[in-house]
Amino acid sequence: MSDRYQDLAHNPIGKFLVKNLGLPNPPYLERYEGGPLVSGTVLTGSATQGPVAKAVTAALKSAKIDATGVRADSKKYKGLVFDATGIDSAAGLVALQEFFTPVLRQLASSGRVVVIGSAPEEAASEGAAIAQRGLEGFTRSLGKEVGGGSTANLVYLAKGAEKALETTLGFFLSPKSAYVSGQVVRLGTTGITTAKAPKQQDKPLAGKVALVTGASRGLGEADMRTLARDGATVIGLDVPPLEADLKAVAEDLGGTYIVGDITSPDAPALIADHIRTHHGAVDIVVHNAGITRDKRLRNMKAENWQLVVDISVGAPQRITDHLLEQGLINEGGSIVGIASIAGIAGNNGQTNYASAKAGVIGWIQSLADRVADRGITANVIAPGFMETEMVKTIPLGVREAGRRMNSMSQGGLPIDVAETIAWLANPGSNAVSGNVVGVNGQMLLGAS
Ligand SMILES: NC(=O)c1ccc[n+]([C@@H]2O[C@H](COP(=O)([O-])OP(=O)(O)OC[C@H]3O[C@@H](n4cnc5c(N)ncnc54)[C@H](O)[C@@H]3O)[C@@H](O)[C@H]2O)c1
Repeated sequence: MSDRYQDLAHNPIGKFLVKNLGLPNPPYLERYEGGPLVSGTVLTGSATQGPVAKAVTAALKSAKIDATGVRADSKKYKGLVFDATGIDSAAGLVALQEFFTPVLRQLASSGRVVVIGSAPEEAASEGAAIAQRGLEGFTRSLGKEVGGGSTANLVYLAKGAEKALETTLGFFLSPKSAYVSGQVVRLGTTGITTAKAPKQQDKPLAGKVALVTGASRGLGEADMRTLARDGATVIGLDVPPLEADLKAVAEDLGGTYIVGDITSPDAPALIADHIRTHHGAVDIVVHNAGITRDKRLRNMKAENWQLVVDISVGAPQRITDHLLEQGLINEGGSIVGIASIAGIAGNNGQTNYASAKAGVIGWIQSLADRVADRGITANVIAPGFMETEMVKTIPLGVREAGRRMNSMSQGGLPIDVAETIAWLANPGSNAVSGNVVGVNGQMLLGAS
């Protein structure tokens, strides 16, 4: 989808106006187009040169990412990775300033910053808790400073989780995370034994089967295309009026499709039968279907409340429970719920939608604990303003504000959510569970 303001801001007159009037200046974001994950060199640093620093070097090597620990004054870096796990006092936080300040001007456009910390709740001392929690403020602020389409994200490691860094570093350092910034992701140890990055880097989902609801268009269609690109066999589901579009997407990708409404009482059985008959079982379930029925609460109709909540979270919960009961989600599988920034920050006129989307977070985090012993992960993606049919119904002024009020000054594309799902579904990401990942260009509205 073209962004006319973005194009205008890049022509000579537009550039002049943007600069002199202090208008938003949306950079063109690099997105992954195949080939190596990172086109350039990554500079690494560490506060303590401990085991995590070694694990970072090993993960980058295994992901075939060019990296060095020695800064050269004249060089541009595509990524900066700093291991801050060993910082255990407030005063020690200065290690961040010492590493980043001299090199920030050398960060290339669409560059990547990744800070690695230890989970603050595991901190051995009060000083370590201060320092490790401090990394959040640091990373979120740096995300707002870097500009030029660059991002900054924080990865917290539980003790021992450094072994599972490869796919997460690969995602956050590559153009696949173009619209993901200011996020905090936790790697735990539950899925650590099975978290192995696949050898075939360009087809990490080979042999996997993925179900995507709401698959005929928008984010769901992009999920289908990206999961298929990565080697998965895809199953799309959508409502009867969109059957022709759904069929076209599924057939284009060599997948299958289910026509149905996820809220209908027979939906769980219908989906289970299709999976059993055509694929045996699934590995990846993406609960993407969603609608909005916006009204302030004083004017809200009960049926519009009920419908939005049931499509967003009621039906996904019923379908997931049925698939789990029937043993149709394989060990090592990945369940992804789609929430929204509205479910985190709240939004005028969206009490129904925000309740439902916050509910998705509650559901998935609780589910993550329940399915851990089956080696299944569950995570939530909270998109911000994405360029799809859904946002076309938002009044123009509000829409333009939503589009610009983030660190990238632009809306995200469906591919940005799809790439994030592909990272979570990668078998190498089995240590990532119970997380909420905002794909929102670091939206200024509320913490995300
Ligand atoms: N676009 C955004 O800015 C944005 C922001 C935050 C969250 N989201 C969420 O992302 C998801 C996808 O949104 P989108 O922008 O692609 O929307 P979209 O309207 O383009 O696509 C949604 C799809 O879900 C399907 N669907 C709706 N109700 C269904 C039902 N009962 N059964 C089966 N399928 C059903 C629709 O037919 C459609 O194909 C939704 O959950 C939405 O809430 C979108």
